[in-house]
Amino acid sequence: MSNETITTIRPLQAPLDGTTHVPGDKSISHRAVLFAAMAEGTSSLSGVLDSEDVCASIAATKALGAKVDLTKQEDGSLAGSITGWGQAGPTQPQDAIDCGNSGTTARLLMGILAPWNIRVTLTGDSSLQRRPMRRITAPLMKMGARFEPEGQETLPITVCGTDQLHAISYDAPMASAQLKTAVLLAGVYAQGTTTLREPSASRNHTELMLPEFGVPTTAADRSASVTGPEYLKSADVVVPGDPSSAAFLASAALLKPKSHVVIENVSLNTARIGFTRTLERMGADISVHYSGAAGKEPYGAIEVRYTPVLRGCEIPADKIASIVDEIPVLSLVAAHARGVTIFREVSELRVKETDRLAEIITGLEKLGVDAWVEGNDLFIEGQPDLASEPGLVFESHGDHRLAMTWSLVGLCGEEPVDIVDFESVAVSYPQFLTDIERLAK
Ligand code: S3P
Repeated sequence: MSNETITTIRPLQAPLDGTTHVPGDKSISHRAVLFAAMAEGTSSLSGVLDSEDVCASIAATKALGAKVDLTKQEDGSLAGSITGWGQAGPTQPQDAIDCGNSGTTARLLMGILAPWNIRVTLTGDSSLQRRPMRRITAPLMKMGARFEPEGQETLPITVCGTDQLHAISYDAPMASAQLKTAVLLAGVYAQGTTTLREPSASRNHTELMLPEFGVPTTAADRSASVTGPEYLKSADVVVPGDPSSAAFLASAALLKPKSHVVIENVSLNTARIGFTRTLERMGADISVHYSGAAGKEPYGAIEVRYTPVLRGCEIPADKIASIVDEIPVLSLVAAHARGVTIFREVSELRVKETDRLAEIITGLEKLGVDAWVEGNDLFIEGQPDLASEPGLVFESHGDHRLAMTWSLVGLCGEEPVDIVDFESVAVSYPQFLTDIERLAK
C-alpha cells in the first residue's frame, strides 16, 4: 500500500515583492558540522541550516562521539557549539549510521572515518541506497581503507578504517565536490600530499573551510591538495544563505508578472551561482551585489525582476558543475524561453536523489514542452506563451528539488497543481512555501 501524500499548490495571488533571506547553505552547513566534529576543541557555529539532510550529519557526529549543542534561533537557523573528537578520534558507534536522504553525509563520512581504526556501517533511505558509492570507495581503497562487502556499489556499506592511510594523487572521473571532499578529508590524516584533479571545477567549500580549521590546502585550476598528517583545530563558522534555495525564489520572480525580489545574505561563491549567469544569458533581469565574506565565503544579495521575454541558451559541459543542483528549475525557466536551451554533458543528473534527467523530461512533457536527451545533452524547446492546463499532477519521487521546481508551475501560473510527496522540501528548504507566499502578500 502506498503512503504517498498529495499537496495542492495554488497560484500566488500577487506578484513576489520585497526583500527576503533564505536558510543557511546546505553544503557549507554539512561541512561546518562535520569539520567541527573532527576538530580538537569547541567550535562555534551560526546560520546552520535546520533541514533533514543537515540533521542527518548532526546525528551522525553525535553517534561518533562529538558533543553537539546547537539550538534553533528566531530566524529558523541553528547556532551554538560542537566539541569535536579531535586527536582521540571518533568512537565506535553501537549501530549503523542512517544518513537518510543525504548523499553529502554518507560520502563525506567515508572520508572522515577511513583514517581511524574503526568499523562503521553507513546506510540511508531507499533513494540514497540506489546512489553510486564506488566513486568514493575506489580512491579511499587506493589510500589503504577497506569497505565491506568488497566491491559494493551502494549502501549499506561498512567502512573499515586504518590509521595507516597513504597519500594519493587521483584523477577523478567526474566533477564531484563530495568525492573531492572525501579524498581530501582522508588525506588530512595520511602521510604526504594528497591531490585530487577533476575534469571541471566543482564547489570548493572544503578547500576554503579547512584552513579555517587550521589545515592548509592548496587549490589550483581543477585541482586541490592537502598535506598530512595534520589535525583540525576548532573554529568559528558563520554560514551564509543557500544560493540553491535562492534559485527557486529567483526563478519564481522571473516567471510571475510584476515581481521584484531581493534575496539577501546569500553565498555568492562563484562555484555556486552559475545559475545567475545562465539566467543572465537567457536575458533575465538579475544581478548580484557583493557585501562581504564569511570566512573565505563571499556573500551578498541577488536581485531579480520579472522578465517577460527570455531566450534559450547553451550551457557548456565545463559549467555544469556550477549549476548542477539548479538544472531542474533552470529547465522550467528554459521551458518559458524563446528557442532551444541545451545543457551539455549532464549525465550526473541521472544519479542524484532521483534520475533528474528523466524526471525533467517527464515533467516538461506534462506541460506540453518538448524536451529530449541526445547522448548526455539535455535539450528543451521553450514556449514563450507557455500556460499550464488544469488538473496537472507532478511526481516529486521524494526529491526536494523536483518538488520545488514543479510547485513553481502552480505558484507562478494560473492553475493549481498537485505535487506528490511535496514534504521532501524538508531535505533542504523546509519553509520554502511559507517564504514564497510571504513575498506575494
Ligand atoms: C554537494 C555536491 C554536489 C551537489 C550536492 C551537494 C556537496 O554533489 O549536487 O547537492 O555539498 O559537496 P556531487 O558531489 O555528487 O556533484
